Amino acid sequence: MKTKVAIIGAGPSGLLLGQLLQNAGIDNIILERQSGSYVLSRIRAGVLEQGTVNLMREAGISDRMDSEGLIHDGIELVFDGRRVRIDLKELTGGSSVLVYGQTEVTRDLMDARDASGGTTIYEVANVQLHDVNGSAPYVTFEKDGETTRLDCDYIAGCDGFHGVSRKAIPAEVLTHFERVYPFGWLGLLSDTPPANEELIYAHHERGFVLCSQRSITRSRYYLQVPLTERIDSWSDDRFWEELKRRLPKEVAENIVIGPSLEKSIAPLRSYVVEPMQYGKLFLVGDAAHIVPPTGAKGLNLAASDVKALYEILKLVYRDGRTELLARYSQISLRRVWKAERFSWFMTNLLHEFSDRDAFDKRMQRTDFHYYTTSEAGLKTIAENYVGLPYEPIE
Ligand code: APR
Ligand code: PHB
Repeated sequence: MKTKVAIIGAGPSGLLLGQLLQNAGIDNIILERQSGSYVLSRIRAGVLEQGTVNLMREAGISDRMDSEGLIHDGIELVFDGRRVRIDLKELTGGSSVLVYGQTEVTRDLMDARDASGGTTIYEVANVQLHDVNGSAPYVTFEKDGETTRLDCDYIAGCDGFHGVSRKAIPAEVLTHFERVYPFGWLGLLSDTPPANEELIYAHHERGFVLCSQRSITRSRYYLQVPLTERIDSWSDDRFWEELKRRLPKEVAENIVIGPSLEKSIAPLRSYVVEPMQYGKLFLVGDAAHIVPPTGAKGLNLAASDVKALYEILKLVYRDGRTELLARYSQISLRRVWKAERFSWFMTNLLHEFSDRDAFDKRMQRTDFHYYTTSEAGLKTIAENYVGLPYEPIE
């Protein structure tokens, strides 16, 4: 088998890159370890920056997103029971975010791939990358017990944090940066109307809470829990009760409870690997970086990596500009680190850290007061939340 770009992983990164390349007439094949339905069963965040929305439109996959996505012009932050609205639109001179679930983004991307005739091979095993630093890289994989060799010009490692692509780069080439937080998020999805029109990020001494949503009839809530917590010990009743306890009274009164459609615990982690390129291999999205979900940046960072790599590959295939390939890592990493910074900042600002002493706690409260009472502080939060600009390739 032969293609121009071998894409490992059919998450949002791989599918979006595949679609953009497909539209530009650049052949690609996607290899995915799981089945399509398994990929779609993963519940992930749901806030799209304008840049992500634009890229979906550029890829020609925006019909459902544009009709069903909810435009949010603001978010709310809460600390010590005080509610502060961050007017994203006003503070950024007109930007907002779109609430549209990552599962739906993935579904739209899969449908578009089917319609365009692009090849995605699901349920492949033992994917291995070969000669990534040579002139003729290739990938081998097993499907239904048979091993296939896929020759290609370039490999896009879109296989998430636990994928094989990053591991194909020699250890001495890579530097890893990591922060593991001492808590996780317990998430619950339910077909109940959201408690508030806009998202609420709330600090409470019992732990952080997020009130999010997928639509006007579907809510997504999260509670900060210790990493030792087990999902079995959280009945729906216990979840709702704890949620209400951590929210201001008038918000708690608006919570509509209902049976959970999904409940899971996710650890929080910040992680970056440098560089994001080695020879003909390019790491994209979660394969190269993880953010804690507090800034809603995971999918959006994947999209900005995809945009950078796509623009470069387009110029490589159209004009032979192979010298641009060496810029991918630096261009992506500058934006990645800023989103890492914001996600880390929001996590530190809004969570309860049991190991913090009295001084640290005063600093946290003062940070909140400063950022939410100063025009500069509010603008800083708003411009990061809606998404920092993409860097041009040249
Ligand atoms: N071979 C083939 N596919 C693999 C392999 C492998 N060895 N390892 C992992 N994969 C697949 C996974 O099954 C998954 O479908 O790669 C895909 C990676 O998808 P994601 O983890 O969703 O990563 P990405 O596409 O970069 O999306 C980033 O999704 O995970 C969230 O928070 C993240 O919102 C962010 C966005
Ligand atoms: C979500 O809806 O799942 C969600 C929204 C915003 C976040 C994180 C998760 O910051």
